[in-house]
Amino acid sequence: MPSLIKCKSLDRKNLELCVVLHQVSFPRPWMLKEFEDLLCLRTTFALFATYKSVFSGFVMGMVCDDRLEILTIAVDPAYRQRGVATCLLKKILHKALSLNLKCIDIEVSSENKSAQNLYQKLGFVLTGQRKNYYTEENQRRVDAYLYRLTFK
Ligand SMILES: CC(C)(COP(=O)(O)OP(=O)(O)OC[C@H]1O[C@@H](n2cnc3c(N)ncnc32)[C@H](O)[C@@H]1OP(=O)(O)O)[C@@H](O)C(=O)NCCC(=O)NCCS
Repeated sequence: MPSLIKCKSLDRKNLELCVVLHQVSFPRPWMLKEFEDLLCLRTTFALFATYKSVFSGFVMGMVCDDRLEILTIAVDPAYRQRGVATCLLKKILHKALSLNLKCIDIEVSSENKSAQNLYQKLGFVLTGQRKNYYTEENQRRVDAYLYRLTFK
């Protein structure tokens, strides 16, 4: 049976959908211009996913020396817990391997248990913590956890 989830390269015409999804997913969403600027860079990797052909999520990462940093990932609330983020991250992981990179890094709020579970399930390991790194809508400060997936 063909997979319900498909991942493709993100291009300019999908960016408005990313902006809307970012708005419902994060307390401090990015503006369209920030997405556009990132997408222009040669070092950026960006994928979007469809679930039954409907835009359902995206991920953006950037190569820095011999590692890939995941900058953001979000899945439409209507399509969460169906494997969309797993599919996006596995594609990114294969890309990093094909480029001979050493590891993938990601930062996540200490309060974001869903994302932490996701990364741990894919083999990421907690490597550090940044105190009071994120500012929530109500100005409350929250720590960042640093996760890394190292290729053998
Ligand atoms: C975190 C997020 C990307 C997960 O996307 P998703 O497509 O629902 O994730 P998947 O379906 O691939 O789930 C894979 C694993 O992640 C974990 N997970 C996902 N959602 C979870 C939830 N609500 N509660 C607990 N664990 C969860 C589970 O371990 C899950 O494996 P399982 O299905 O075997 O239990 C999504 O919830 C999201 O967009 N959140 C808002 C934006 C965000 O927090 N991005 C990450 C910033 S670092």
